[in-house]
Amino acid sequence: MTRIALRLQVVRSVPDLRTWRAARQGSVGLVPTMGYLHEGHLSLVRAARRNDDHVVASIFVNPAQFAPNEDFDRYPRDEARDLALLDELGVDCVFAPSVESMYIADFSTFVVVEGLSSRLEGKSRPSHFRGVTTVVMKLLNIVQPSRAYFGQKDAQQLAIIRRMVRDLDAPVEIIGLPIIRDADGLALSSRNVYLTPEQRESALVLNRSLRVAESMFAHDERSAGAIRDTVTSMISSEGLAQIDYVSVADCETLDELQSIEHPALVSVAARFGGTRLIDNTILTPLP
Ligand code: PAF
Repeated sequence: MTRIALRLQVVRSVPDLRTWRAARQGSVGLVPTMGYLHEGHLSLVRAARRNDDHVVASIFVNPAQFAPNEDFDRYPRDEARDLALLDELGVDCVFAPSVESMYIADFSTFVVVEGLSSRLEGKSRPSHFRGVTTVVMKLLNIVQPSRAYFGQKDAQQLAIIRRMVRDLDAPVEIIGLPIIRDADGLALSSRNVYLTPEQRESALVLNRSLRVAESMFAHDERSAGAIRDTVTSMISSEGLAQIDYVSVADCETLDELQSIEHPALVSVAARFGGTRLIDNTILTPLP
């Protein structure tokens, strides 16, 4: 096996990251990830590389955001490949802590964004966002970045993190970047590897239904109900899909809408076999 020397620094403990950070001046961009990187993550890293003097990516499969019945143990991991990809993109530092160093034995403090966290994803995954906001707040405190980058694919996560940063006055700019899709339209996700070829083919209905929502909106449909109904019937007519929700909601408050007068988040979640996928698009009325 040939080992390639990495230029980036891999840091595994909080004190070591603090030492790395203390020696840096200028702006620091943070790209938080759970690893098993795809083009979606890499687009965040490229943006950070363009905007910031120093770039830190974190790789941490965060147990606090998985329920006991979820896929924490089998979540895909490939650190060597991730490090090579990040190195190629010029990342300066990868923070890849152990679970024990992030959650010490008597860890007992959690960050909860109330309201927003119990909607949509939060209905099927009640403790998920508490885990996300807690680990993101920890990462912000540890890395102290000028900017932190998140994908629009997890639109609710992005809305919740923006709210947390606003409410807790965290000194960081949150940058949200567009969903990256495969050539056939499937939104990239580390969980796509779980899909059989038939499930993957079926899952394309998510993107197709969102494109139809966009086209209805472009043809002046402003009824959220009409869009919700069309998307729902498209997804339910796909044999392997089991719908979890179809939502047309205000982008910031996630309140379900009756009519679309402000930017609206159309989001969907469905299961294909044992794999739960999410996707979304934003419909923005012209002023
Ligand atoms: O989006 C993710 O991969 C995770 O939820 C995040 C933001 C890295 C927190 O663990």
